[in-house]
Amino acid sequence: MKVLGIETSCDETAAAVVEDGVRILSNRIASQVEIHARYGGIVPEVASRQHMLAIIPIISQAMADSETTWSELGGIAVTVGPGLAGSLLVGVNAAKAIASARDLPVTGVNHLEGHIYANWLSGQVVSFPVICLIVSGGHSDLVLMRGHGDYVALGRTRDDAAGEAFDKAARVLGLGYPGGPAVQEAAAGGTASIQLPRAWLRGTRDFSFSGVKTALLRLVEGGRISSVADAAASFQEAVVDVLVTKTVEAAKEYRVRQILLSGGVASNELLRRRLVEGSPLPVLVPEPVLCTDNAAMVAACGYFRFKASKVDSLDLDVIPGLKLA
Ligand code: KG4
Ligand code: ZN
Repeated sequence: MKVLGIETSCDETAAAVVEDGVRILSNRIASQVEIHARYGGIVPEVASRQHMLAIIPIISQAMADSETTWSELGGIAVTVGPGLAGSLLVGVNAAKAIASARDLPVTGVNHLEGHIYANWLSGQVVSFPVICLIVSGGHSDLVLMRGHGDYVALGRTRDDAAGEAFDKAARVLGLGYPGGPAVQEAAAGGTASIQLPRAWLRGTRDFSFSGVKTALLRLVEGGRISSVADAAASFQEAVVDVLVTKTVEAAKEYRVRQILLSGGVASNELLRRRLVEGSPLPVLVPEPVLCTDNAAMVAACGYFRFKASKVDSLDLDVIPGLKLA
C-alpha cells in the first residue's frame, strides 16, 4: 500500500510517498531555514506563507518522483500537531482537498509519533517493547512504546527542548542558526573542559535544559570563556550526558528490547555514539535526513494507522498542542 505523507508543522514543507510503511519511493523537503535564519528563529506568519507557496509544487514533485498515480495511492497521512497552527493548517487543508477530490482516505498523524516512525524507514527491524527518545527543536520526550500506536509517556522537558537549548547556546556563543549542527561543528575543535550543571530531576524521567543554557550565558557575560570550541564541547557534553543516562535507565527499568532515537537532535554524532556505547540494548537511529522534519516519517506512521483502521473524516482539524499518549 502506497501512502502520501504531508508535513508542515514547523518550517519544512514536505511530501513523500512510502510503500508499506517501510520503503521510501520519494521524499521531498522544502526548507525555509535560510529565510528564518535572518531573524534568528522561526517567525510563524512567515512560515505559513512559505508553506502556502511550496505545498502544491512539493506534493507534485513527490508524486512524480515516486512514479505513482493518484489512483495507486492507498491513502494520505498528514501531520495535525503538535506545531504552529498556521503552518499545520496548510498541510491539513491540502490533504483534505486531495482526499476529497480523489476519494482517498485520510489519517491525521501526531508529529512526535511521526519522528518515532522514521525508525521503520532505514531497513531496521523494530522489536517491541522499545524506549523512544524524541529530541527535536520543540520536544524532548521519553516514551515507552509497547506496540503500534501504544504509548506510555514517561517524561518530557519542563522548559527548553534539547534542540531549543542547542539553538540558544549557539546564539550565546555567536555560532548562528540552526544551532545544533553549529554547536556540533564548533565542539569538534574543542574539549569538554568547562564544568556545566546537569539537571537530573531524580525520581522523575523529566528533563530540564534551561539551567545549563543559563550557566553558559553567565560565563559568556562574565567574559570567562576563552575558547568557543571548548564551551560548545562542554555544553554538548552536558546535554548528551543527561539524555543518555536517563534513556538507558528507563530502558533497563522497563526491560525493553531496543532503544529508538529520533528527532532533529538525533543527528548529533556525540548523542548517537554515547547512546550506543552506554546501552546494553540495540540502539536504532534513522539516517540524518530522516531525523529532521520530513514527510516520509509521517507516511510510515500513516500506513500503520491505516492498517489499524484509524481513518479520519474530512472534519479533521489541526491540534497545535497535541500530546503523545
Ligand atoms: O525535528 P526537527 O527538524 O524539528 C522539530 O520538530 O523541532 O529538529 C530541529 C532541531 C533544531 O533545534 C536543531 O538545532 C537540532 O534539531 N539539531 C541538532 C543537530 N542537527 C539538528 N542538534 C544537535 N546536533 C545536531 N547535529
Ligand atoms: Zn520535528
